[in-house]
Amino acid sequence: MFEKAKATVLRELAIQDIEPGVYCGEWLQTTGRELLESVSPINGSTIARVSQATVHDCESVMIKAAESYNEWSHIPAPRRGAIIKEIGIELEKYKEILGLLVTLEAGKTLSEGRGEIQEAIDIADFAVGLSRQLYGLTIASERAEHRMYEQWHPLGIVGVITSFNFPIAVWAWNAFIAAVIGNIVVWKPSSSTPLCATATMHIANKVIKRHNLKPIFYLVTGSGSVVGNAIANDRRIPLVSFTGSTQTGGAIGEIVARRFGKSILELGGNNAAIVTKNADIPMALKGVAFGALATSGQRCTSTRRLIVHKDIHDAFIKNLAHMYETVEVGNPLNPKTLVGPLIDKKAVGEFESAITKAREEGGEIIAGGNRIAPEGCGGGFFVKPTIIHARRGLPVMHTETFAPILYVVRYTDLPEALEIHNEVPQGLSSAIFSNSVQEVEYFLSHRGSDCGIANVNTGTAGAEIGGAFGGEKETGGGRESGSDAWKSYARRQTVTINYGSSLPLAQGVAFDV
Ligand code: UN1
Repeated sequence: MFEKAKATVLRELAIQDIEPGVYCGEWLQTTGRELLESVSPINGSTIARVSQATVHDCESVMIKAAESYNEWSHIPAPRRGAIIKEIGIELEKYKEILGLLVTLEAGKTLSEGRGEIQEAIDIADFAVGLSRQLYGLTIASERAEHRMYEQWHPLGIVGVITSFNFPIAVWAWNAFIAAVIGNIVVWKPSSSTPLCATATMHIANKVIKRHNLKPIFYLVTGSGSVVGNAIANDRRIPLVSFTGSTQTGGAIGEIVARRFGKSILELGGNNAAIVTKNADIPMALKGVAFGALATSGQRCTSTRRLIVHKDIHDAFIKNLAHMYETVEVGNPLNPKTLVGPLIDKKAVGEFESAITKAREEGGEIIAGGNRIAPEGCGGGFFVKPTIIHARRGLPVMHTETFAPILYVVRYTDLPEALEIHNEVPQGLSSAIFSNSVQEVEYFLSHRGSDCGIANVNTGTAGAEIGGAFGGEKETGGGRESGSDAWKSYARRQTVTINYGSSLPLAQGVAFDV
């Protein structure tokens, strides 16, 4: 199954054994550059190798990107939108095969692999509409014969550093929005998913070449210490968008802030679902299971904590544990599989240390807790989805482990549930399952969820692109994707025009020279 899928993907996406990983208007040759292995988490085998950027390559990319900016920023926004529309159409054509590459390289299920590409197509659509709606406000001036308004200019070159878990969609969120505003994008993909990046770039390049344009999107595959560092420190990059761990994001945010750059940080989540006595139980079970198990618990939005009312706690957990026992865990190439592998060996190690820690702290394993070796996936990175019964305040529960571990806590009243909910340092996504309007409104009030995303009767994971995506506290505060998140990729300029024949001053200040 694996070899056949791999051969199809390599052939249809024209991926070479040694694939160039640096795009600078042309693909830089692979010889003389360090190679990165693209390892499939399904069986630990190498899919292909990808060449990485040197510091010198990053510099070449920056010089070219500045030339591109001169051309691209002059093109009217709706025409830029039309180009992004064509890229969306190309992605649609490649949806199946690119989705399969996501499965091979990131280990997502087939359905989630397709969903990943759909998310990129959706944001392309959004960006096309946005390209005709980059509105600024008109403001009433306090002075006669004066007009005030706001306009939004492109920033220039935007650095986008993405994570393995959404190897294409999150780039698209950033890249398509940044591009319609007139920016050029330099992309550093995760070192775990370089082929998803090169394949996506080839698809986008087809459109850009068709229009005889200089590149809008550049690619610098490479390590955080070389390429990530170069992007963070480069004053020619006014905005860095980073998706990844709180630790790395904190370091990048500091470097960028020190040079007065802007950053969009989309960092760790520690998302909880609250299930009340008034919940639709089958709906809540499904919502919690999807949130905790999708992408094997490797989403920023994954449900990591479950806060259940004491009266329904035991029955709910019993049903959930049964789902965990019966859910199909294994080869994501099998269409029935709902839970695939973790991304690598290190992730399995982190899963195991979290389990050990939880046990030491008094947590009780209700389901899973061990690594597994599904048939036909020897060498893969699989673990059994895990439920841990915890008490409030368990230290391990306050950290994010990128694995399918769900901590369960019982609560007595809703204010207590919200206290438990909000006591972690992260603040990305949250959910309540309840049909009580009082409970729901409490959860949505300022005393309720402290997260950037608050969902009712749907789980913490699986946001649509139309909303602004991001979170508070250690999640970093950035917003990407829909709504008015585009404003982060633009420079606001407040304009005052005096069309009169005198010079009145604001606040009635006199200055009669
Ligand atoms: C992420 O995990 O970084 O809301 C992004 C979701 C997806 C995006 C997650 N649409 O689960």
